[in-house]
Amino acid sequence: MRRPVIAGNWKMFKTIAESVAFVNALKPKIRGANHCDIVVAPPYTALRAVADASGLDLAVAGQDVAWEKEGAFTGDVSAPMLRDAGCSHVIIGHSERRQLHGETDERVNLKIKAALAAGLLPIVCVGESLAERESNQTKEVLEKQFSKGLGGLTPQDFSRIIIAYEPVWAIGTGRTATPEIAAESHHFLRGLVVTKISGESAESVRILYGGSVKPDNIRGLMAQEDIDGALVGGASLSAESFAAIVGYNS
Ligand code: 13P
Repeated sequence: MRRPVIAGNWKMFKTIAESVAFVNALKPKIRGANHCDIVVAPPYTALRAVADASGLDLAVAGQDVAWEKEGAFTGDVSAPMLRDAGCSHVIIGHSERRQLHGETDERVNLKIKAALAAGLLPIVCVGESLAERESNQTKEVLEKQFSKGLGGLTPQDFSRIIIAYEPVWAIGTGRTATPEIAAESHHFLRGLVVTKISGESAESVRILYGGSVKPDNIRGLMAQEDIDGALVGGASLSAESFAAIVGYNS
């Protein structure tokens, strides 16, 4: 059995005070929810405050990470620094980093290795654009992102990786992939793990879906065999809707 993960990516939202207020509002709503791992990814400035306010109830993730430990990299934050700020997880290769900041699969690969070396669990994002889907290139794109981004990892490394399938056309658009469309890509990705890593890794790796996940569509997504959780953007910003997504099983 793969333990589900419900993760909230706050992107560039919330001050420190707003972040702490969110955690304090969320905690009573998720009390007793022990069916899944619950992760939030606040902006860098709020990481420590969220980690302190969360205690053991929530895991905290960075939204990106540098591939070096330290050095002259203005604006970057390293994996040991994320650990120091209270993170256990880090999102890597989000499509907004790929589109707006020139993130390449090669960099994704370096960042994954840096995160693993520091003891962080990487949540690695892959997914096709609308043009790529419409020209039937979805599988090719996923295969390339997987081979290059997740290349050179051992089954042992892989046991600490979480994959997030986020079709770019479904992010922030209100246009969720249907459970069947998402499941097809998840199944394909799990197959890549079989051929490129190991059968055992494929059985155990958690593959999250991301893209316009809401309280009213999470159940249908989670009912799919190969969907092991969600990476939620907009609907993770309110404690009510995030708690409703966490409570998909009730
Ligand atoms: P939305 O849920 O707002 O579509 O964002 C998805 C996402 O990018 C999560 O990383």
